[in-house]
Amino acid sequence: MIVLLVLIMILTDLLLVKWLKRSFLEPVRNLNVAMGKIRDGNLEYVLPTGEDGEIGQMYQNYEDMRLRLKESADEKLENDKHDRELISNIAHDLKTPITSVKGYAEGLLDGVANTPEKQEKYVRTIYNKACDMNNLINELTLYSKIDNNKIPYNFQKINVHDYFGDCVDEIGMDLESRGIQLNYSNLVAQDTIIIADPEQLKRVINNIISNSVKYMDKAHGTIDVRILDEQDSIRVEIEDNGRGIAQRDLPNIFDRFFRADSSRNSAQGGSGIGLSIVKKIIEDHGGYIWATSREGVGTCMHFVLRKYRESA
Ligand SMILES: Nc1ncnc2c1ncn2[C@@H]1O[C@H](COP(=O)(O)OP(=O)(O)OP(=O)(O)O)[C@@H](O)[C@H]1O
Ligand SMILES: [Mg+2]
Repeated sequence: MIVLLVLIMILTDLLLVKWLKRSFLEPVRNLNVAMGKIRDGNLEYVLPTGEDGEIGQMYQNYEDMRLRLKESADEKLENDKHDRELISNIAHDLKTPITSVKGYAEGLLDGVANTPEKQEKYVRTIYNKACDMNNLINELTLYSKIDNNKIPYNFQKINVHDYFGDCVDEIGMDLESRGIQLNYSNLVAQDTIIIADPEQLKRVINNIISNSVKYMDKAHGTIDVRILDEQDSIRVEIEDNGRGIAQRDLPNIFDRFFRADSSRNSAQGGSGIGLSIVKKIIEDHGGYIWATSREGVGTCMHFVLRKYRESA
C-alpha cells in the first residue's frame, strides 16, 4: 500500500514538474530568447502566439513592443535615406554653377575676355552663379531644419514671359561661350501667369540644359526653347540636336541613378539623378514631364504646367 502511495506521489510529482515546465519554464525561456534577439537588434523574431492567460498576454506584449520598435527603426531608415538623397541632390546641383564659375574665372585669367564688355559679362555671370550657389546652400540649411525633408517650396505667381525671358538671357550667355546656339520662342499671351517656385523651376531648366550640353555630339550644337499655349496650361519644350537616347532607355531616364549605357561608358561624369530631381519638382508643381528622342538626332524634354486663373 505504502509503495503504491509513494509511486502515485512520484508520478504526480513528475507530472507536476512536466506541467510546470511546459506551462511556465518553456514560455519564459522562449521569451528570454526573444528578448535576447531584440537586444541584439533583430526585430524580425516572432514568438508563436496562441498561448492563454498571463503567458499569452506576455507574448502579446512582446509582439506589440517588437512591432513598435520595428516601425520606428524602419521610419529612421527611411528618413536617413531621404537625408542622403537630399544631400546628393544638392551636391549635384552645386556642381553646375561651380563648373561655370571656374570656367569664367579661367576666361578672365587667361585673357579670353579681352574687351571691357566681355569682362563685365564674365564677372556678371560669375556673380549670378555665386547667387545660385548661395540659394542652394540656403536651401540645404532649410532642409536640415525641416522634418521629413520635403522640399520647402516658395510658390508664387510668375509671369511666363518675364520669367523665361530672363532665364533664356542668362542661359544663352552661358551657352554662347560653349559654342551652342540657343533659339527661343514664346507663344503664350503676354499676361500668362503660372504658380511656381522660381528657384526650383530654375533647377529644372538648368538640369535639362546641362544634359543637352553634356550629351551634345554635334559641331554646331543648338538648343531650342519653346513655350506653347495649351488652353489651361503652358507647355515648355527644350530640344537639342545632341546624340539622342535609345528608345529602350527612354522610359527609364527619369529614374534615380539611371544612366543610358552610352552615357555610362562615355567620358562625361554623372550619377543619373538630374532628371529624377526634375521630375519630382515638376510633379510637386502639379505638372508632368516626358521626353521624346531619336538616337543620333536629338532629344526633346516636354513639361506642362497649369496656368493660374484669377477666378480659379
Ligand atoms: N539631352 C540628352 N541627350 C542625350 N541623353 C540624355 C539627355 N538627357 C538625359 N539623357 C540620358 O538620360 C540619363 C539620365 O539623365 P540624368 O540627368 O538623370 O543623369 P546624368 O546626366 O547621367 O547624371 P547627373 O545629372 O546626375 O549628373 C543620362 O545618363 C543620359 O543617358
Ligand atoms: Mg544630368
